[in-house]
Amino acid sequence: MAITDFKILGYRSIKEMWLKLQPINVIMGKNGAGKSNLYRSMYLFSCAANGSFAAAMAEEGGIESALWAGNWNIKERPEITLSVRTDSFEYTLTCGFAGDVIRPGFFSTDPVITSEVVYRIYSGKPKKRILQRRKKSITARNSQGADVEYTLKVADNQSVLAVLRDPVTFPEMFAIREELLGWRFYHGFRKDIDSPLRSPQNCIMTPVLSHDGHDLASALATIAEVGDEEELSFSIQEAFPGSKLIIKKTSAGLRIALDQPGLERETESRELSDGTLQYLCLLAALLSISPPPVMILNEPENSLHPRLFAPLARLIMKASQGSQIWLTTHSQDLADAITDLSGYSPYVLTKVDGQTKLVGAGLGGYREEDDD
Ligand SMILES: Nc1ncnc2c1ncn2[C@@H]1O[C@H](COP(=O)(O)OP(=O)(O)OP(=O)(O)O)[C@@H](O)[C@H]1O
Ligand SMILES: [Mg+2]
Repeated sequence: MAITDFKILGYRSIKEMWLKLQPINVIMGKNGAGKSNLYRSMYLFSCAANGSFAAAMAEEGGIESALWAGNWNIKERPEITLSVRTDSFEYTLTCGFAGDVIRPGFFSTDPVITSEVVYRIYSGKPKKRILQRRKKSITARNSQGADVEYTLKVADNQSVLAVLRDPVTFPEMFAIREELLGWRFYHGFRKDIDSPLRSPQNCIMTPVLSHDGHDLASALATIAEVGDEEELSFSIQEAFPGSKLIIKKTSAGLRIALDQPGLERETESRELSDGTLQYLCLLAALLSISPPPVMILNEPENSLHPRLFAPLARLIMKASQGSQIWLTTHSQDLADAITDLSGYSPYVLTKVDGQTKLVGAGLGGYREEDDD
């Protein structure tokens, strides 16, 4: 299911933003404009779903650091609201400081989730609320369609989404959680000399490349054996003319190498350039035999020569047939290549008075009056 709208309030440099999403979403902006903040806010949804919301907040310095550091209007509550709407559901989470919650000093930077609301969306009909959390009170719609009180304790730094995961009692909530868990994030691939990408790897059928690419050899072997092998070979030819990908099962593990024109022997993964490894990782991610509903790529152009932007844009277009794409980039050339193929203009972020603002296309969103 595709994301249609995305709304963020009070999160880092994003005081308030509503976005209307397209099948391919390219996010651009200068250093410090807020691209990573936007990326990170999307990541927090999957953290809410998998139970790591408080840990993800702690990684970025706790609620104090994550909360918009500018001036709050006297009528506003200093809190973070993250809201996403897809074709089938709408989920909103609000969190803030401990407030009236009594909390030992060590944990004062933990976020307190003050509210969560989930609606099911039916095409052409009013949306229906299936979960409501207001502080300690939680009501959820069960398999009989009845709103029941959930009386088991949920920690106030934890999302209800991560707790209500019984598919028999709460099938709708279960399905929504699974959907959020399916979003796939690629933030960056390690290419240093000690990176696991450069060593022989365990040989396991791997439909999904891991977020750091440590199982690249198995992911490429999976595509070569049961996926779009033709596209894989073509994309390597397009990027590195005359080269051929070699995948070998050895006693040390699965190895990848490139057969390159003019060389007497294959070049092993430990010898490949950073850009070549980056491109191979992107191939493994974008040609996955199990495409996610949403794929989120942060600065995929890192280490790539601009000549590879056209093949990359073509692969992104192809991947967008199975997944909605969200891509953050510094490269105008890559953004242009994607726009030329897809027709979707990039979102450009800029900073105004310390706030991330959207320039041009993509302003959202949905209104509270849509409620049933
Ligand atoms: N709590 C906060 N309140 C307001 N602004 C914040 C807060 N936390 C971080 N920022 C601001 O967010 C900006 C960083 O945003 P971000 O990392 O998303 O930029 P970016 O567009 O990804 O930049 P780059 O291209 O350099 O990666 C910085 O200017 C920082 O001052
Ligand atoms: Mg960034």
